[in-house]
Amino acid sequence: MTVTEQIQALKQEKNAVILAHYYVPDKVQEIADYIGDSFYLSKAAADTDADMLVFCGVSFMGESAKILNPDKTVLMPDMEADCPMAHMADIENIKNMKKSCEDLAVVCYINSTAELKKYADVCVTSANALKIVKSLPNRQILFIPDQNLGRYIASQVPEKQFFFNDGYCPIHAALTGESVKLAKKLHPKAQVLVHPECVPEVLQMADYIGSTSGIIRYAGESDCDSFIICTEEGVLFELRKQNPEKKFYMVSDKFQCPDMKKITLDKVLHVLKENSNQVEVTQELSQASARALERMLELAR
Ligand code: 13P
Ligand code: SF4
Repeated sequence: MTVTEQIQALKQEKNAVILAHYYVPDKVQEIADYIGDSFYLSKAAADTDADMLVFCGVSFMGESAKILNPDKTVLMPDMEADCPMAHMADIENIKNMKKSCEDLAVVCYINSTAELKKYADVCVTSANALKIVKSLPNRQILFIPDQNLGRYIASQVPEKQFFFNDGYCPIHAALTGESVKLAKKLHPKAQVLVHPECVPEVLQMADYIGSTSGIIRYAGESDCDSFIICTEEGVLFELRKQNPEKKFYMVSDKFQCPDMKKITLDKVLHVLKENSNQVEVTQELSQASARALERMLELAR
């Protein structure tokens, strides 16, 4: 049997489903039952009837899936696949801010550890942050950990006061305005589609700003037939599948998240065979961080 056939057989035997983020390698996306952005995957994880979830993504994704499904088995193909930004906020600072601002809501990007989510009033993803921040009664917002997504949301909600910390995605934040300018020169008719984790000078050049799913939806619906893609290159798989007649250009061939690329078919097969790499979250941490995730699912509905 091929690796894919073995994975399919084990999935059936164990009533397992495979969830994959758009940034994992194409071969893994090909075998996934659910493929999408962080928001879609957290909804899928919350709704599934399966007994076992294999989460093809980075650790905060598996951790969130386990928090939303404490009684299910959640496996990570590679326990070392982690998002550096998920750790980029200081808990003491959050506590101090909470003490000094009475009307403060701590809004936590889902790309964060469960330990950080514990201090959040609500979680958001890039697909629902605007809707959720607008719907909060609080006028003061501490946005953690991504300063770039936070500043973008703040620009859309001028009636609220924002505080940021200095977290960022090292992959998206490395993209420069200069390189986008160059890509526009090479492909003058192409529209620029940008993920909000990019820096403000890149966002300013965008024809569309949105999550990975938003970018894929926009490219499909647009009358334009060529696009400059400013997010991780894994989205090309879905973009090309859905739009074989359209052209997609990456600004840089280095736009890859090394942690997402750690996920391979062999690792998926291995964890399914062995029931290994099970995500564990203590009951105390799970209960404390579930509130913010569940509130996100409620407010984004
Ligand atoms: P979305 O899946 O919300 O588009 O976020 C991208 C990302 O960086 C996930 O790690
Ligand atoms: Fe984290 Fe950036 Fe990789 Fe997403 S692309 S997992 S935000 S490092």
